[in-house]
Amino acid sequence: MIQAKIAEILDSNQFLQEFEVNGWVRSFRSNRFIALNDGSTINNLQCVIDFENFDQDELKRITVGSAISVKGTLVESQGNQQRVEIEVKEFKILGDANPEEVKLTILSPKRHSLEKLRQQAHLRVRTNTFGAIMRVRSKLSFAVHSYFQQNNFHYVNTPIITGSDAEGAGEMFRVSALDMENPPKKEDGSIDFSEDFFGKETNLTVSGQLEGEAYAMGLGQIYTFGPTFRAENSNTSRHLAEFWMIEPEVAFCDLDGNMDLAEDFIKYVLKYILENCQDDLEFLDKRFKTEEESKPKAERTGMGLLEKLHFVLDNNFKRVSYTEAIEILKNCKPNKKKKFNYIIEEWGADLQSEHERYLVEKHFKCPVILFDYPANIKAFYMRLNEDGKTVRAMDILFPGIGEIVGGSQREERLDILRGKMKELDIDEKELWWYLDTRKFGTCVHSGFGLGFERLVQFVTGMGNIRDVIPFPRTPQNAEF
Ligand code: 4AD
Ligand code: MG
Repeated sequence: MIQAKIAEILDSNQFLQEFEVNGWVRSFRSNRFIALNDGSTINNLQCVIDFENFDQDELKRITVGSAISVKGTLVESQGNQQRVEIEVKEFKILGDANPEEVKLTILSPKRHSLEKLRQQAHLRVRTNTFGAIMRVRSKLSFAVHSYFQQNNFHYVNTPIITGSDAEGAGEMFRVSALDMENPPKKEDGSIDFSEDFFGKETNLTVSGQLEGEAYAMGLGQIYTFGPTFRAENSNTSRHLAEFWMIEPEVAFCDLDGNMDLAEDFIKYVLKYILENCQDDLEFLDKRFKTEEESKPKAERTGMGLLEKLHFVLDNNFKRVSYTEAIEILKNCKPNKKKKFNYIIEEWGADLQSEHERYLVEKHFKCPVILFDYPANIKAFYMRLNEDGKTVRAMDILFPGIGEIVGGSQREERLDILRGKMKELDIDEKELWWYLDTRKFGTCVHSGFGLGFERLVQFVTGMGNIRDVIPFPRTPQNAEF
């Protein structure tokens, strides 16, 4: 008797071997065919039961959603839907699922909308779609670590609770242990955070970059991969209030090196998924196609999911300066016909996702790296160019997603960094330690942040970011 996962059994050639397997019933047909799934693969194991040899009352408990344990022999399947199946010798009900109650959930065998599935996020992982997405997500995480570890990067865990809100990457969530009903007050009536847990105001981090930079200044090349939090009220298909970000930071590396790293990294993880998640990707490819067909023609991408992944893997990302991009946008049809919500009039305009998507999906038709943005629409830590008005920033834009990576070469010159902070009214006292990194052995260095969920969206073809994280946190929603 071998205890095995369904993925192993489906690949096995040990015919007549006895297996024991646990899983959840997906369907039970003709009182004879159980489709069993245990999460190890998208494919179900067919367990064939000779109902005459079993207790009728026990058989009735084999219902959709129930957990069972099966012992039986591996045989070649008589049917043509599967290569192998299990001839059941014994089975045991581990956990019942009342059919009347199951009917009220997404476990019922009919098709459910993604919205309905979101309302039962605790059960949706038992569907083919979410099983596939979450297995791909897991493999993607592994590929991220594997890429950086193979390339001599060190994994650094930066703090989740932070005392500085200087990065300016987004609105923050406050962390406090004060009595909200009755907080200590200062003389002027404002809340006295010196009496709070950390003796100062603290928030959940929006990025691990600044601490990552400090560590890159000793470990040389580091990456973070952790949760980040932004309290923006953005109800879009690409924003979460809690999302995971991968942030490499590299000493002695300029913006070109940074772009090379980002492109190489993304291609590595895509290739890894194409090689290691074939069954799930094939399923997601079909799902994508069905969804595309239900959309109006103008909204279709014209490429299948697998096709899209191969396309990105096989082509160089197009590198375009912000200035070139503005020229293209100023003169494009949707701008001239005022089809954009924000019309691009002159150099200096911040790009909205409609512009990013135009560049990627309509103009270049491939991933685009935009670089050298105007200084005043980017963060204080980005390195100022010789022209005095642009900074060494880069954003990577992806089809269907828009911005997937944001990064830059960092300002390593103490005086210029200080000047910039002063200009933006950023308190030096708050970032004294960050400035120290520019005092002691400062060097050219660069890094970027990749939104992990946006990557999972791209790889799985899911249109809404809420469907690629197990329990999404968005405005007005922290259920589960
Ligand atoms: O462009 P952002 O804000 O960059 C930073 O935070 C830098 N500190 C990164 C660095 O240089 N180390 O965010 C980086 C990426 C974005 O390109 C996007 O993919 C993702 O994080 N992102 C979000 N993903 C989901 N929900 C949100 N609310 C996101 N905000 C940013
Ligand atoms: Mg950004």
